[in-house]
Amino acid sequence: MTPSEQAALEKRQRAHVMFTWSAQQSARPVSIVGGQGARFTDHAGDDWLDFESQVFNANLGHGENRITEAIARQARELACAHPAAMFEAKAALGEAIARVTPGDLNHVFLCLSGAEANENAYKIARQVTGRQKVIARRRSYHGATMGALSLTGDNRRWATEPGLWGVLRAEDPYCYRCPFGLEHPACGTRCATHIEHIIQMEGPESIAAIFLEGMTGTAGAFVPPPDYWPTVRAICDRYGILLVADEVLSGFGRTGAWFAVDHFGVVPDMMVMAKGITGGYAPLAAVAMRDHVAEHFADSTLWCGLTGYAHPISCAAGVAAISVYEADGLIAHTAKMGRHLAARLADLKAKHPIIGDARNLGLLGALDFVADRETRAPLIAYAAPTPPGSFLARLDTELRARRMHICRKWTQLFIAPPLVIDQATLDEGLDHIDAALTAASGAA
Ligand SMILES: Cc1ncc(COP(=O)(O)O)c(C=O)c1O
Repeated sequence: MTPSEQAALEKRQRAHVMFTWSAQQSARPVSIVGGQGARFTDHAGDDWLDFESQVFNANLGHGENRITEAIARQARELACAHPAAMFEAKAALGEAIARVTPGDLNHVFLCLSGAEANENAYKIARQVTGRQKVIARRRSYHGATMGALSLTGDNRRWATEPGLWGVLRAEDPYCYRCPFGLEHPACGTRCATHIEHIIQMEGPESIAAIFLEGMTGTAGAFVPPPDYWPTVRAICDRYGILLVADEVLSGFGRTGAWFAVDHFGVVPDMMVMAKGITGGYAPLAAVAMRDHVAEHFADSTLWCGLTGYAHPISCAAGVAAISVYEADGLIAHTAKMGRHLAARLADLKAKHPIIGDARNLGLLGALDFVADRETRAPLIAYAAPTPPGSFLARLDTELRARRMHICRKWTQLFIAPPLVIDQATLDEGLDHIDAALTAASGAA
């Protein structure tokens, strides 16, 4: 496509289709015609390295024919079905999710987005426990619908407040900037234990569930300390509160395990999943629930449903995607790439004083930029816009010039390429980040 054809395409799109999460005039879209593995191609024919996986979604990379073929087959055979209808891909999807999730998460309620799945987990928790309130974390994201945004702790919630009543806030396992000013393990994992205090002060019999991202995603890529999840599990058990793991971003291999909670040996009562469930090839999400949760609905109505429930094409995409993870050993591969990433991030931190913290689990990582390494003062305030001409603005420009598709929010640069990435390509991207950091730091 010539530059003028590209400009015409952008003009047509801008005329009628809104951009998400941005003032329309400032949105700078990357065009995309297709891709292969960890790279995609724009309309000018430039190849981009996808270090954000199309919003932490394309775990299986671009151009995965085993999924597109399954979608095409399903579309030919059966593309439209009643939400309650029986068909092969739906049964196979339920079996596949039960197989890869831990413990007795044997039952699924299907949705089309992560937000919808959180909404439904919220409703299910209220129906099962008969309780109203929930606990969610301060630096968290659970989706953009009203209920999911009410769970969300980070600033994406602010513009649409007030949200749902009854969401209580817990602090985060953000060890680099501990909200209690403590150090693990001497802290006794206060970020987990203080949840019990919240419960006692609010009335345990009023709290239905605790919603936690398996590993915090776009609110910071925090790796929880090893005893965090088991401590919260034990608190939930003491008070009959349901533990809900939101694995929308951290699930399906992203952290080097099927689900982030698997690193900690914890089985939540419900697990919310989306994104990697099809690798972004079709919209699909699920609330997986344990036997004891599903049993509640044996003779009580499940007051949840949607027209697009278990859409045949989404089900077929999910079945195909899960079989690709399994056939290609992608979970073990991601764990291996994650170890390499950890070493490379440590090197970057040693070289660039502007990096205060470098952290990752599997292929979910972040560089956290500071004004001062000693005080750990963030480079810009939480939720502040990027100052024009600043290091962060220059970094964005340098990364874009190197055709790096990557997510930065405030002081955090996220590293989350497709799990299919090989070590050479991972290094290529990290070399670009290294060069961009040097260029952005060196400029006036
Ligand atoms: C942890 C988490 N939960 C929920 C969501 C919402 O998913 P969706 O955008 O599919 O509604 C996201 C999206 O980024 C997420 O990261």
